[in-house]
Amino acid sequence: MENKLFELAAARRSIRRYIGEPIDREILDEIMKVALTAPCSFGHRPVEFVIVENPETIEKLADCKSLGGSQIIGAGAVIVVMVKLDRGEFWIEDGAIASSYILLAAEQYGLGACWVHIRNRTGRKKSSDEEIRDLLGVPDGYAVLNLIALGGKGEDKPGYTESDYDYGKVHYEMY
Ligand SMILES: Cc1cc2nc3c(=O)[nH]c(=O)nc-3n(C[C@H](O)[C@H](O)[C@H](O)COP(=O)(O)O)c2cc1C
Repeated sequence: MENKLFELAAARRSIRRYIGEPIDREILDEIMKVALTAPCSFGHRPVEFVIVENPETIEKLADCKSLGGSQIIGAGAVIVVMVKLDRGEFWIEDGAIASSYILLAAEQYGLGACWVHIRNRTGRKKSSDEEIRDLLGVPDGYAVLNLIALGGKGEDKPGYTESDYDYGKVHYEMY
């Protein structure tokens, strides 16, 4: 049975090295359209994004995560995923689902992408979340969940194949 979404999902891997070129704005817009269709709690669309393309700002963003931030340097764009906390119960889920959509959409355009975690991570002086909100002028009432680094693939990684799936994790009716 043809399953295009499965093919896309199996091809997607976390790519942490990029060719260092900008990404077409048209492609970024297409990716963000996908992100904006993600399901969300109460249907109140709490997830917002700041897309950073300026290499100097990307370096500053990298500095907001004291361990493991530098991997975003060289990305063509970094999408900062933030969630409005006014109906906060499901903010992590809301941000994570939108992020997953971005990761799949990036693969559709042949771009490499990687989730870089921010929640509960530390920056140089404050939490990574606070440092990023200061850097980008994000108003109070939002939390940054993660970054998604995007760029032309600078490393080759094989997609997943049948032997990588553990169907034993799928249970019908009873565990
Ligand atoms: C919640 C979450 C946090 C992650 N944090 C990071 C991170 O901070 N840095 C990183 O390089 N990868 C991060 N990743 C990517 C995972 O390491 C990666 O998805 C996993 O190893 C599986 O590899 P794959 O994406 O190639 O299938 C994160 C992924 C998730 C879902």
